Amino acid sequence: MNAASTNPFDAQTLKRQFPGLADPRLHYLDNAATAQMPAVVLDALRRFEIEARANVHEGAHFRARAATEAYGKARAQAARFLNACSSEEIVFTYGATSSINLVAHCFGEELKPGDEILLSILEHHSNLTPWQSLAERHGVALRFLPMTPEGRLDLDSLGTQLTNRCRLVALTHCSNVTGAMTDAPSIVAAARVVGAKVFLDGAQRAPHGPLDVRELGVDFYAFSGHKSYGPTGIGVLWGRAELLAALPPFMTGGQMIEEVTLSRHLSSAAATLRSGHPADRRGDWSRRGPRLDANA
Ligand SMILES: Cc1ncc(COP(=O)(O)O)c(C=O)c1O
Repeated sequence: MNAASTNPFDAQTLKRQFPGLADPRLHYLDNAATAQMPAVVLDALRRFEIEARANVHEGAHFRARAATEAYGKARAQAARFLNACSSEEIVFTYGATSSINLVAHCFGEELKPGDEILLSILEHHSNLTPWQSLAERHGVALRFLPMTPEGRLDLDSLGTQLTNRCRLVALTHCSNVTGAMTDAPSIVAAARVVGAKVFLDGAQRAPHGPLDVRELGVDFYAFSGHKSYGPTGIGVLWGRAELLAALPPFMTGGQMIEEVTLSRHLSSAAATLRSGHPADRRGDWSRRGPRLDANA
């Protein structure tokens, strides 16, 4: 066996796993924006489309069962990747931005004027604009951790920026600007003192390998598929089960619906957690539902 074949960082060996990099004229340096997909992922996508393309959770035929099983396996794998307590803590979204918007809408729904959210000046705008919109809607104040001259979050400023009005600390886990890693345990320890929850934007951290949300001690974690060698249009939101279960609706429709009448719908908390759909977990009748059922 030669050295190149045993070295996991041998560029040529790695490159051969990515059919999208076969063109010798291409020197792809944009992984932080979107990574190419390795053959093993392309093969899994093709296999799914050929062997299991059907409506997840919606059909009794064997294709639908295969799709549902594949979906469940993907949730379980995402849970293992994050060392989550269970796959019910995994919510599939459209990407990191959509996960952040979900938390901003659902967790933010309960916030009141005077409450505060702590961000940093190192955030990608995906972890800024949803909070700005929330601030406009709910009168919440945004505070910002500054950066040290080395490009790291200035944790010395926690003393002034993290007040007892803070309800959520929402920070990048790894900066897309400087590459600096956030010292999550220190942030979590400080947040707990004032009773704030902690959300980490892991879009730039997740592609580098498995995570341990329990060790990090955070409450919500988000990352995207297309930066983590997966397809575009998918992302993961992880949240502590009890926090997810308490969130109000984000989107309605699909598998979370148990009954629909012309004037309202009933959604099931259990069904929602099973599907991972970022939607209504309260199980109450909503008056905002579509008028769909002619028998109502
Ligand atoms: C730190 C960070 N957060 C969020 C995002 C947005 O991710 P997505 O494209 O999955 O919405 C990016 C994308 O560059 C990012 O670098």
